[in-house]
Parts: sequence; C-alpha cells; structure tokens
Amino acid sequence: MSAVAKEAPRTRVTETARLLPPAGADPSLTAHVTRYGRLPSLRGEAAALIAHVEASGLRGRGGAGFPTHMKLRAVAAGREPIVVANGVEGEPASHKDALLLRINPHLVLDGAAAAAAAVGARRIVIAVGREAASAHASVAAAIAERERAGERTRFELVTPPERFVAGEETALVQWLNGGPAKPAFVPPRPFERGVDGRPTLVQNVETLANIALIARYGSDWYRELGTPAEPGSMLATLGGAVGRPGITEIEAGTPLRDVLERCDGLSERPQALLVGGYFGTWVATGAVLDAPLSDAGLRPFGAALGARSIAALPRTRCGLAETARIADYLARESAGQCGPCVFGLRAIADALSSLALCDGSAATSVKRLRRLTPEVTGRGACAHPNGATRLVESALEVFSDEVAHHLSGHCTARHGEPLMPVPQHNGEWR
Ligand SMILES: Cc1cc2nc3c(=O)[nH]c(=O)nc-3n(C[C@H](O)[C@H](O)[C@H](O)COP(=O)(O)O)c2cc1C
Ligand code: SF4
Repeated sequence: MSAVAKEAPRTRVTETARLLPPAGADPSLTAHVTRYGRLPSLRGEAAALIAHVEASGLRGRGGAGFPTHMKLRAVAAGREPIVVANGVEGEPASHKDALLLRINPHLVLDGAAAAAAAVGARRIVIAVGREAASAHASVAAAIAERERAGERTRFELVTPPERFVAGEETALVQWLNGGPAKPAFVPPRPFERGVDGRPTLVQNVETLANIALIARYGSDWYRELGTPAEPGSMLATLGGAVGRPGITEIEAGTPLRDVLERCDGLSERPQALLVGGYFGTWVATGAVLDAPLSDAGLRPFGAALGARSIAALPRTRCGLAETARIADYLARESAGQCGPCVFGLRAIADALSSLALCDGSAATSVKRLRRLTPEVTGRGACAHPNGATRLVESALEVFSDEVAHHLSGHCTARHGEPLMPVPQHNGEWR
C-alpha cells in the first residue's frame, strides 16, 4: 500500500471538497472511480494501512472523537471480526451522514472495505437510519452496482429504528444481535465482543469515508488540510438563523465566522449558538465567532465539536423554551433502563418547561434544576444523561439574563414557531 498511498489524487479531490462531490455529480461507480481512482489492493497491507491511519491523526466523526487507529488495532487483534458502518444519525440537528450516504455512497463503501481489510473482517454491515430513505436507496443502488461489476466484497444494508440512542454503538450491536436498539451495559465493549459475540469495529460513516481517502492518498496528503492536532476536512450541519441552512464540508480549524459565511452568513444577529447538537453546548455569540471550528478552538468556550452541528438562535426566540423542548425530547428518548436517566431527565425536562413557561413556580424550578443536573450527570450506562445535562447547564448559564426575567414572570423573546427540530413521535426500539 505504501507506494499507492503516496500517489496523488487523479482528479481534483482538493481544497475542502474531499467528501462531498459537487451538487448533481454522477453518483455511479464509474464516476466515483474517475473522481478518486480505484481503492488500492490492501492484501497484506493491513498493518501498513493502520499505520497510515495513525499517522493521519484521524479521529472518529460520530461524536466522541476517538482516535481511529486505536480501534482498528484493537479489533484487528481479535478473531473473525465484523465491521459496522454507523450511519444511523439519530441526532435530529445533524444531517451530514445522510447526505454523505446519499451523494457519495461509494466512498463510504470503499472505507468500510478498507477498514475490513485493516482488521481482517469478512462481514461488513452498513446501518442507515430508518427515516433516511434517499440515503438508503442510494446505498442499496451502490451495493447492487458493485455486485453487477463483479466485486467480491459483500455489504449487508440494514435499517435500525429511528431513536436518538439507536446509533450508540452498544445499542446498534444489541439490535444487530436481535435485541432492542438500546445501549447495553459495558464491558464488554463492541471491539471486545459485539455482533455474534465477535470483535466488532463500529465506525461512523464519515470516518470510514476518510479511511477510504487515506488508503488511496496517504497520511501526508490527508494532513494538508486541518490543524496538526485535528487534521482533515469535516462535515458540519448548519441550522437556525443562517441564510442557507444545510451541510458544508470545511477544513478543521476554519474560523466559525467563515463557516457561517459558507451558509450565506447569519440571517439576523443571533443571541447564541448551539454547538455540537443536542448533546452540545449553548455558547453566547461574540468572541466564539473568531474561534477555529475544532475541539481545541471550542474548548475555551466550554464547547466541543460533538455531532458537528451548529445552530444559530435568533434574538426573537427564547433559549429557555428551545432548550426545554429539546430536554423533553431527550427525556422521551431515554432507553428506560437506568433510574437516574429515566426519572432524572424527566424531572429536569419538567422543571425547565415550567421555568420556560414562567408558570409561577419558576424559582422552585431553578432550584430543582441546580440540584438535579449534577445528580444525574455520569449516572447512566451510556452518555445520554451526560449529554442532556450538559445542554441544560449551558442554557442556564448562557441565558442567565433570561432566567432572571422568567423569575420575575415574563419572557423577553417573542415566541414564534419552534426553531430546533424535535421529532414528536417515539419510534419502535426494534
Ligand atoms: C446516545 C448516543 C447516540 C449516538 N449516536 C450515534 C450515531 O447516530 N451515529 C454515530 O456514528 N455515532 C453515534 N454515537 C457514537 C457511537 O457510540 C460510536 O462512538 C461511534 O459510532 C464510533 O464511530 P467513530 O469512532 O467513527 O466516531 C452515539 C453515542 C451516544 C452516546
Ligand atoms: S443512560 Fe439512559 S439511554 Fe443510556 S442506557 Fe441508561 S436508560 Fe438507556
């Protein structure tokens, strides 16, 4: 692989358009090979590929940012491993994975095949969220096209339920094993014992697409974009008060202001940004606009990239009301297995709703929130309670002036239509 990895891209896979081809580009396998070149043969190159991934500095794009090479190496050490491409994307504020799967399915399939070669897996599962119908259709067509072209690598396409926690890796593994899509208690972690009891590599689809690029062009090329600590490009979903909500591919470390410009800027001056999705953090607008969009750049503001979703909250909306709706959704999405998550998140959501409504018990609600959020943090089998309490704590801090207004019985924002998307239904767990 080392010789191939140094080969320059055959086409203009440059600047930040590495993962997202231009709108309307031909998604066929032929066009894909013309655009990126063929995936090199990785026979006997497993260790070299993992070394390239390590040198590239690639970290997972599914939210936690775990170094990808460490997972590859751990799974490669086990017997008869399985690769699962995680395109579930249960986060309502994120659409990046669905878009990637829809317009560039072959790059994800290449990445899954390369990861399988790296860990020595023969079974590859591609999991696409149940409501991402066009992404599912596009991946199904890409798999069929490869089979017609005589490719021997086989991909299984599956559609897990549409629940917020269904994309958590142990939930996905449990569902693939025939159970509900609910997080399982660890250990063992999937890399130790996962699907069918085998070591399982669960990797976000955007991470896999990056592995496909590293397998072709190598780590030096990969590092031409981004920062030394956070190399490469990344997909981000922009929403709320931006001129053109949608998904953009950016170089890690691009100033947030420039990222927002990509979406025709801010449609009105926002009071705050929700950074990192529903497990993310509210940040007051101001200095953060000049911060680089990277974990390191966001750290001084108490935020992280997370699901790589950024939403701008206009001044006409109440941050407490928006957060109360999201907290209610997250409480409904508890998998119902851990007491602090089931009862704690419901109590937090109810207290926040009462504060948002200025319903006369606002002072009691604030006291309850201040007591409950630290009590619930860190008290579940998965990170669901932590994500929810982080969001609520940041709302109380960033919207502290608004809290004071609500304590005196009125809301300064003109309520309009709810801004942040919150699914109303609760789907099945199977
Ligand atoms: C509640 C919860 C939901 C998650 N949902 C997703 C998801 O929809 N897609 C995803 O790729 N990772 C999701 N994750 C992260 C996965 O557990 C896992 O870390 C990830 O798929 C690993 O891939 P990566 O290393 O390539 O990021 C979720 C984690 C939690 C705690
Ligand atoms: S913490 Fe909540 S979402 Fe996570 S496993 Fe426990 S009950 Fe389920």
